[in-house]
Amino acid sequence: MEVVGTKQEIEKIRALHPKQTRSYLPTMGNLHAGHADLVQKAKKKGQQTWVSIFVNPLQFDVQQDFELYPRTQAADFELLKNLDVDFLFLPEVSEIYPKAQTFFVEPTLHHRYLEDFFRPNHIKGMATVVMKFFQIIQPHFAFFGKKDYQQLRVIEQMVEDFHLPIQIFGEETVRENSGLALSSRNQFLNAAEKKEASQLYQTLQNLKQSAESLSFFSAEKIKNLEQSAIENLEKRNWKVNYIFFGGQKTLAPLKAEDKNFVILAAAYLGNTRLIDNLEGSFL
Ligand code: PAJ
Repeated sequence: MEVVGTKQEIEKIRALHPKQTRSYLPTMGNLHAGHADLVQKAKKKGQQTWVSIFVNPLQFDVQQDFELYPRTQAADFELLKNLDVDFLFLPEVSEIYPKAQTFFVEPTLHHRYLEDFFRPNHIKGMATVVMKFFQIIQPHFAFFGKKDYQQLRVIEQMVEDFHLPIQIFGEETVRENSGLALSSRNQFLNAAEKKEASQLYQTLQNLKQSAESLSFFSAEKIKNLEQSAIENLEKRNWKVNYIFFGGQKTLAPLKAEDKNFVILAAAYLGNTRLIDNLEGSFL
């Protein structure tokens, strides 16, 4: 695995291998089996596999979260080396933001809710840095987890709107046996919270089952399902940001003609904010 830190080094590598296709996985490090799964999918696609590790200051709404984001470089190296990744891009903040940013990538109304509502500037900061990495690495294929469902949809839309010649792959969420989605935030949970945490996925599974067994579509019934799930979690001491049924592509509120849906959830357990989601279908 070759480790590179600058745009110039990447340009040289691209010039050396002009015909090779590049698969790319952007990360913020603190890698776990969910990331490893994405690396394996990426390796199957392109001739070169690229991973970046960059804790992006622009996508944290709270400075403290940026500072406390777990940085585990040695373990990350080991994992990526063992997976036989070809190139690891590990830039300094000054390489990506040499001066204060003057332009941003920001979705219009389409995604100004859910994560964007509860974490102002998160999506804008995330899309801006992914655009930068796409320009620097110029991948043919890029891999994202469905774990961050809205992020995946924003990136797909960005690629379409800006005519970027990149194929986006959205991959399934890797979970613990309990159902809890793997996340770097799970390490902030204490033992009791860790045990409780799988309730979020349990809630999503119950909601999916209830929605799929509705005999006809009713926006009101969907609202009631969302509301009672929020109340149940709050009774268990969760602080819920949202539980929301949306269309799988647009994430807009469900309409009678939608055949597929995704249930998106974000909630705090103690001080730890967890997100998860589950896809379903009315067919
Ligand atoms: P990060 O949280 O490191 O996640 C990197 C990728 O791994 C994302 O596409 C995320 O959806 C995926 N991922 C996380 N947990 C997963 C799980 N349990 N199963 C499958 N995939 C999982 O997401 C980011 O970084 C950043 O926003 C980034 C895109 C790198 C931009 O800064």
